[in-house]
Amino acid sequence: MPLTRFISFRHNHLLQSDVQTDSLFGTDWARPLYVTGAFVLIRGEKESDRSAVHALNVSAFKTSAEADLVDALREQATPVVSLVAERSGAVVGHILFSPVTLEGNPGLKIMGLAPMAVIPKYQRNGIGSALVRAGLEQCKQLGASAVVVLGHPEYYPRFGFAPSTRFGIRSEYNVPEEVFMAMELEPGSLRGTSGTVKYHAVFSTV
Ligand SMILES: CC(C)(COP(=O)(O)OP(=O)(O)OC[C@H]1O[C@@H](n2cnc3c(N)ncnc32)[C@H](O)[C@@H]1OP(=O)(O)O)[C@@H](O)C(=O)NCCC(=O)NCCS
Repeated sequence: MPLTRFISFRHNHLLQSDVQTDSLFGTDWARPLYVTGAFVLIRGEKESDRSAVHALNVSAFKTSAEADLVDALREQATPVVSLVAERSGAVVGHILFSPVTLEGNPGLKIMGLAPMAVIPKYQRNGIGSALVRAGLEQCKQLGASAVVVLGHPEYYPRFGFAPSTRFGIRSEYNVPEEVFMAMELEPGSLRGTSGTVKYHAVFSTV
């Protein structure tokens, strides 16, 4: 078994992952997830997952824009956190984080969550939440001090995101305040900051 794979019988259930290993024990997201008769595994994306990831993004967003964005970010952004949810050998969910910059704060390592998707058939079963929690943990492992997301204001606060204006930072896009959110991974990391967050250039080309 490769070093990066492990099996844990935490909570008497099987949990397996390809993402960085030891540190995952004891984390909140690492709970067994059982969806319509099968366990769901959250793991790092592999090269062989790419076409399935593309297809699931198309099926969730009903357009290929986000799927193409994932492909472009994988090629052009560094580092990315790209995780999949696997159920019975099939990829049913995906999440990607890529670096963003906060103007005037070049030393701050901030990741942007985008995009994420779960195959429509398996939505509302906790798969998206497990991907977010695992992804945040991975961003922390990479040394990111904060994460931003532009998305549903009813969904992301449950993970600890709050409107970015609370931290004095704003989106480069002209969007309602409540849809652009931020979360500190390192407490206090956004204290005293201000300015505009910019996503990777790929976001404006795809
Ligand atoms: C958003 C998404 C990834 C969530 O995945 P999921 O596996 O269904 O998420 P979970 O089961 O962990 O959580 C479900 C919750 O998400 C909420 N949710 C899902 N889509 C939502 C939306 N468009 N607006 C607001 N809330 C939404 C549900 O209301 C549900 O809340 P509840 O638990 O209070 O009932 C999935 O719905 C999806 O792929 N949507 C289409 C693509 C998309 O919009 N991606 C996000 C871009 S910001």
